[in-house]
Amino acid sequence: MRLKDKNIILGITGSIAAYKAVMLLRLLVKEGASVQVVITPAGKEFITPVTLSALSGKPVISDFFGSNDGTWNSHVDLGLWADLMVVAPATASTLGKMANGIADNMLITTYLSAKCPVLVAPAMDLDMFAHPSTQRNLQILREYGNSIIEPASGELASGLEGKGRMEEPGHILEQVIQTLAGKKKLLNFSFLVTAGPTYEKIDPVRFIGNYSSGKMGYAIAEELAEQGARVVLVSGPVSISAHHPNIKVLRVESANEMYEQSVKAFQECDGAVMCAAVADFTPADKTTVKTKRGKENWMIELTPTQDIAATLGKMKAGKQVLVGFALETNNELANAVSKLKKKNLDFIVLNSLNDQGAGFSVDTNKITIVGKDNKITNFELKPKKEVAADIVAKIIEWKGL
Ligand code: CTP
Repeated sequence: MRLKDKNIILGITGSIAAYKAVMLLRLLVKEGASVQVVITPAGKEFITPVTLSALSGKPVISDFFGSNDGTWNSHVDLGLWADLMVVAPATASTLGKMANGIADNMLITTYLSAKCPVLVAPAMDLDMFAHPSTQRNLQILREYGNSIIEPASGELASGLEGKGRMEEPGHILEQVIQTLAGKKKLLNFSFLVTAGPTYEKIDPVRFIGNYSSGKMGYAIAEELAEQGARVVLVSGPVSISAHHPNIKVLRVESANEMYEQSVKAFQECDGAVMCAAVADFTPADKTTVKTKRGKENWMIELTPTQDIAATLGKMKAGKQVLVGFALETNNELANAVSKLKKKNLDFIVLNSLNDQGAGFSVDTNKITIVGKDNKITNFELKPKKEVAADIVAKIIEWKGL
């Protein structure tokens, strides 16, 4: 009973995913929470109040007024009663109303009156979710301090495939529990994260790069930010973006630019996670004009770049924690241990390209964490979001928090 004595408002809106809200309600009640369901008029088209009131043991609130008997529902009292509000599913329309204070239903007036943490689990079709309007509204809600439980990718009610499925009730329940447990362990801490590939210019139209997508580094930055930390994310060229308002993204291209920004940022940080796939070599001469076809072989001389992790390893002082990555193809553990020592890391996250579902571009990863105390922890294959949570948990443990 992890939610005993907790008062929770469950906001339900007009989405097919409303059926999942029934399961969430059951899970919340099973954990001992007292749950008040507030449903929008459109929500009632998808799920009946009878089901919801039977499961919550309370009449469902939907309208401002009782049935012509002069009674009315006080959204102010409700907002103050709650320890947490979770809107699941949240439609694009509700997100827009929450972001802009359009208080034309009981759910929005309650939201505006609530002083508690608010979690929002969007559910909609992929194009609606990707629309700049939805994304802007989500960003506004994040800036209000609300936590967005990102939708998952998969089959959607429309028959299309993509990002927009409401996160599973079990996952939302864990977020509720963690939020109420005051999980933010890294408030007042700041971290540097490097992510993505680097591009080393050969001439104005060509570069040497690598397949890094930046997904792992961005997931770590998001997780650190979720834990309350301020994050400087020094990112190579990637096609993804960071969402959390605590994350400041510094976009760079080359290993040298990444080096400059990282060394500068690290001085102000409590730690760094070196997730970038930094080029080890860069062309010695970067020509300013395009090299033309015509010669037989083109020899490009490469010179070594600076090792950012090793530089930070030398700079490291006091309680600064330094985490590195090793993506290996052979002699994995031995290589990781050697990098750990050579770069003066506190721990290294090893992933092997031999493991299916690990490495570049995919959404999952399988890691082993090796500490400078020689402790080795193996993890299962998981979504990168959960891998990020494991790594951040290790940082928190390392810092003795
Ligand atoms: N790294 C870095 N700067 C570099 C190269 C690597 O900060 N110029 C960091 C990576 O971000 C990673 C760790 O060092 O956290 C190990 O990277 P990796 O490329 O595996 O190690 P290298 O020292 O480059 O060794 P290798 O010869 O295996 O490429």
